[in-house]
Amino acid sequence: MPSRCLIGTAVWAFACITASAVAIGAPISPDRNPTYLPRPYTIDVNRSRIEDIRQRASTFSPSLDIDHPAWTDGPPSSEMMCLARYWAEEYDWAAVQSRINTEFDHYITTVPAPGENYRIPLDIHFIHQQSSREDAIPMLMLHGWPSTSLEWERVIPDLVEPKDPSNPAFHIVVPDLPGYGFSPAPTAPGLGPAEHATVFASLMQQLGYERYAVYSTDLGFIVGMSMVAEHGRNIVNHITDFYLVQPNATDVARYSGNKTTAEETRFIESINVFFTAYGAYLTLHSTLPLSVAHALDDSPVGFLAWVYQLIHTVSDKAYNPSELITQALLLYLPGVYGNIRSYKELFPSLASLTAYRAAKPEVPTSVLQFGGFTSYPGIQASTYVPRGWVERSANVTFFARHDVGGHFPALSEPQLLLEDIWAIFAQ
Ligand SMILES: *[C@@H]1O[C@H](CO)[C@@H](O)[C@H](O)[C@H]1NC(C)=O
Ligand SMILES: *[C@@H]1O[C@H](CO)[C@@H](O)[C@H](O)[C@H]1NC(C)=O
Ligand SMILES: *[C@@H]1O[C@H](CO)[C@@H](O)[C@H](O)[C@H]1NC(C)=O
Ligand SMILES: *[C@@H]1O[C@H](CO)[C@@H](O)[C@H](O)[C@H]1NC(C)=O
Repeated sequence: MPSRCLIGTAVWAFACITASAVAIGAPISPDRNPTYLPRPYTIDVNRSRIEDIRQRASTFSPSLDIDHPAWTDGPPSSEMMCLARYWAEEYDWAAVQSRINTEFDHYITTVPAPGENYRIPLDIHFIHQQSSREDAIPMLMLHGWPSTSLEWERVIPDLVEPKDPSNPAFHIVVPDLPGYGFSPAPTAPGLGPAEHATVFASLMQQLGYERYAVYSTDLGFIVGMSMVAEHGRNIVNHITDFYLVQPNATDVARYSGNKTTAEETRFIESINVFFTAYGAYLTLHSTLPLSVAHALDDSPVGFLAWVYQLIHTVSDKAYNPSELITQALLLYLPGVYGNIRSYKELFPSLASLTAYRAAKPEVPTSVLQFGGFTSYPGIQASTYVPRGWVERSANVTFFARHDVGGHFPALSEPQLLLEDIWAIFAQ
């Protein structure tokens, strides 16, 4: 008897059959080479852990319904119940793990001392795909929350070996931020933007890349901006789909006096709606992450609901249950606390990194804006930061605005994103 999961606006049907045992040949364990150098890594999650998580999903008990339109207060109970059943009965981590191991080359490395405020060696998991092209440009790609290195899975092959040889090619380096995916979380406070920047500059240096491009999004944008500030001479181009500039005091005064342009007004009103109506997660993560982490670390489906609300708000892609579960699971496995807490270390620096300055960094900056938040009309212009506001803190050399793509363009509109990236380097 097939059951149906309403996933956002798309309907996915799947058969509710009994669980097939999660079992494939166990891959090799990570090489724990003590030297601080990149070494090959194979993803191999403890099968008892996966089984424990599956068990927890099987006993998920949703909140009682209150009668109102779906998504008024959060992800609907019926949808969460359906996803829980899928997780317990059909979700196949072993197949996902095997695919990720087969499609990409994984490594782990250690950064011995990320900075003044954090002196503990830190392990970083990353994907490294080298192009066969001699003219390939090294590019580091930095994700945010709720995401991992897999955000880039649809664009990596074409960036590394473009089918059309007239397009630029790249050596791609895609890490998991500390506390995400297979990069362990910091074990003490202090891994702020400058320390994150040192971690990834060290990673590129370990790989022998002197000059490279940085692509950033979401919290990764804060890391990218910090790399521009601290390691700018190594960066040939900073590409970002998340150049978020909040209105400064002058803008707020102009807005109150009806002096902002129509574009500025739409942007200000959109981000105000985002922060007041949909931004609770970010306030919580930046203030008391542990108070909510106990519940989220205890309940994989509860955590999935927390992640799913944000994905539903900012994505214009239809997810299937397996993709949603994988995205949540990759943040659940290292411990939710470790990744949600990174807001506390990174987010407060957003305003200063994007504030107006007379002498701004010279690093050429490519700004991509993707819209398409069709289910949430109040935030429709929230990515359309006026170009002049971006130019307060960056040397903007490329600017493109699209009405589709949402917050995860690499997953929603990979071809559009590829064409932008190629256009930037064709200049
Ligand atoms: C896997 O996890 C179980 C308990 O969850 C533990 O007893 C076992 O030692 C772990 N195995 C490995 C290889 O880490
Ligand atoms: C806001 O940014 C503008 C540049 O567009 C600058 O002239 C102004 O001084 C800034 N205001 C504040 C309070 O920083
Ligand atoms: C700004 O415009 C609104 C309506 O568009 C009006 O109600 C308000 O009085 C105006 N404020 C100023 C300071 O002009
Ligand atoms: C911006 O970047 C371009 C390209 O590298 C460079 O030629 C130019 O001097 C930079 N401009 C500023 C103001 O830094």
